Amino acid sequence: MSKLSYFDLVFKSLDASCDVSTFHSTEQELDDFLKEDALNNQMNRLSATFLAYWNDKVVGYFTLINDSIVAEAVSESDREPTWAYRKYPAIKIARMARHRDFDNNGIGTLMLLRIFVITLHVSQFTGCRIITVDSKTGAVEWYRKKGFNLAQMRPRDDSVPLYMDFHRFVSQEEMHPLKTLGDFL
Ligand SMILES: CC(C)(COP(=O)(O)OP(=O)(O)OC[C@H]1O[C@@H](n2cnc3c(N)ncnc32)[C@H](O)[C@@H]1OP(=O)(O)O)[C@@H](O)C(=O)NCCC(=O)NCCS
Repeated sequence: MSKLSYFDLVFKSLDASCDVSTFHSTEQELDDFLKEDALNNQMNRLSATFLAYWNDKVVGYFTLINDSIVAEAVSESDREPTWAYRKYPAIKIARMARHRDFDNNGIGTLMLLRIFVITLHVSQFTGCRIITVDSKTGAVEWYRKKGFNLAQMRPRDDSVPLYMDFHRFVSQEEMHPLKTLGDFL
């Protein structure tokens, strides 16, 4: 199967009716989170999880939380001179994984596009300038290719803090292949 397009996927907010038992990524910890914790967290308003379906099969998921990032962690060129506060408001990709049988179908890219769409939408209600992620080491290059930068903070043993200046990304949309982001709202 070749690359899927955005409208080949159906995105659904996780709820008790969703059967996630057939989902297997390449990371056991990410499967366990989806199957054991995601719904409970969602019900306690601690995180929001979205499933990506292709032909009624769960082929990926991502989990978002509110976040903030200290200004010093963001490169000087990404800082906003008029912002006098210590931190920038952000949205964090707390988890993201696609099904292990769907390698190279573009599903990760499409989930990221969905995250951009959600961020654009949320930013109409509350400030969220930056998208953050503590990337698994194996996914750092993938995020870098998508426009994320290394955050200037101490990496943890098992993850690397990355960020994207979402505002700048949207402002430069006409230079970007996802130039119709607003059309996906
Ligand atoms: C990271 C992840 C979500 C990406 O999803 P995906 O569906 O594999 O990605 P896509 O198919 O959209 O992207 C494929 C492209 O990225 C490249 N790519 C895939 N994995 C990569 C990696 N680890 N590093 C660098 N490039 C990578 C592919 O070669 C391909 O390039 P092309 O478009 O030029 O052909 C997925 O690999 C995954 O679930 N990984 C395990 C869990 C994980 O690490 N999640 C992130 C935790 S924060």
